[in-house]
Amino acid sequence: MHGSGLILAIESSCDETAAAVVERGCRTLSSVVASQIATHARYGGVVPELASREHLRAIVPVVRGALAQANITLDDLDAIAVTSGPGLAGALLVGITYAKALAFAQNIPLIAINHLEGHIHAVLLNERESTPDTESPDETALALVVSGGHTHLFLARPAHSVWTYKLIGRTVDDAAGEAYDKVAKLLGFGYPGGPWIDALALYGNPLAVPFAFSQIKTKLHLTGKAPRTKAAKTAPIANLDPHFLFSFSGIKTAVLRYVELHNLRPEAQARAARLFPPEGGQPPSPPKTKAEALALCPQATLDLIASFQHAVVGDLMKKTFAAAEALGARRILVTGGVAANRELRARFTAEAARRHVRVAFPTLALSTDNAAMIATAAWPRLQAGDFADQSLSADPSLALGR
Ligand code: KG4
Ligand code: ZN
Repeated sequence: MHGSGLILAIESSCDETAAAVVERGCRTLSSVVASQIATHARYGGVVPELASREHLRAIVPVVRGALAQANITLDDLDAIAVTSGPGLAGALLVGITYAKALAFAQNIPLIAINHLEGHIHAVLLNERESTPDTESPDETALALVVSGGHTHLFLARPAHSVWTYKLIGRTVDDAAGEAYDKVAKLLGFGYPGGPWIDALALYGNPLAVPFAFSQIKTKLHLTGKAPRTKAAKTAPIANLDPHFLFSFSGIKTAVLRYVELHNLRPEAQARAARLFPPEGGQPPSPPKTKAEALALCPQATLDLIASFQHAVVGDLMKKTFAAAEALGARRILVTGGVAANRELRARFTAEAARRHVRVAFPTLALSTDNAAMIATAAWPRLQAGDFADQSLSADPSLALGR
């Protein structure tokens, strides 16, 4: 090891090709993210074959860009880190293969990182960067990882230089971000749906449609039955407290029923045709004013969107704070793409203040997929000598914690 603690990380688990250079898990020298939003927007979700092809195209310029921005060469690096799962097999493979080749050519260690662990370390990186002069704020925390593929609660504990994770709760079906994406698609907006719902909900009445989450019946899941969706495969359900389990497929169906009952489908289809004309072009961005929102959809649709978001955020909050209380955790980390949501941040912050616990979120850029979080998670592993070898392969349903 050069002793400089420079790690180049590569992330390609879903629809972002990312590379970053981070020094000692606490100083970002560069973070480059090539988004595939323009490719997937009109399909309302990520198309795996297109994702792999786009990663292949982007990986070399993205890694070169990260080295150039950091003003270093490959020879300055101490290790290469890469996301090995969970995620799309073909997408993960692009990053893993390139990382293996770089580590081999440079004769430096290869470090495999779980994508969910990366999301947790995104918050830690922010904390270390914003308070560089103080002692490391590392301490046990309850982490809610809430993204397009995952809704998991972990107890994250620093033990010597490595972190350990205990799974506390998770979704039994769809991830929260998946529900955002499906509702947005149903209403004729683009992918990813989160930023659209976030922007439109500002102008709706959150109490207009009384969506409710009932306590999840866990009998089926506790008997060891397989989870119902691919998003739920990344961790076992048995032995988890049912109070900390999430389910977002019900509210998605409730929105669908509401749309059908109120005959909102033709309006949604017309909107999709307007936003995504067959001739293509740049994908549109979410509205920034009430006038822009009302030009896109009537008040009733804004109310539906605001009510959906209010219910989802309320459910995430209720279970997360209940788990923190049950475990005696005084610190909560909320991370993953959905952690970018404005209502979520505001309500979690207010509730944390009320309960005298601390809550932290990553910056918006570090909330969604990036490689700086992967490099940060790799730093304790570099110190501990916890390396992968050239047999490393993609694990689409890699679990974190037990
Ligand atoms: O962490 P991420 O980039 O990728 C995964 O690991 O899944 O998360 C992407 C997810 C998508 O479902 C997207 O709709 C959601 O995060 N998202 C949001 C917001 N920004 C992104 N959800 C709610 N509000 C947002 N502002
Ligand atoms: Zn992610």
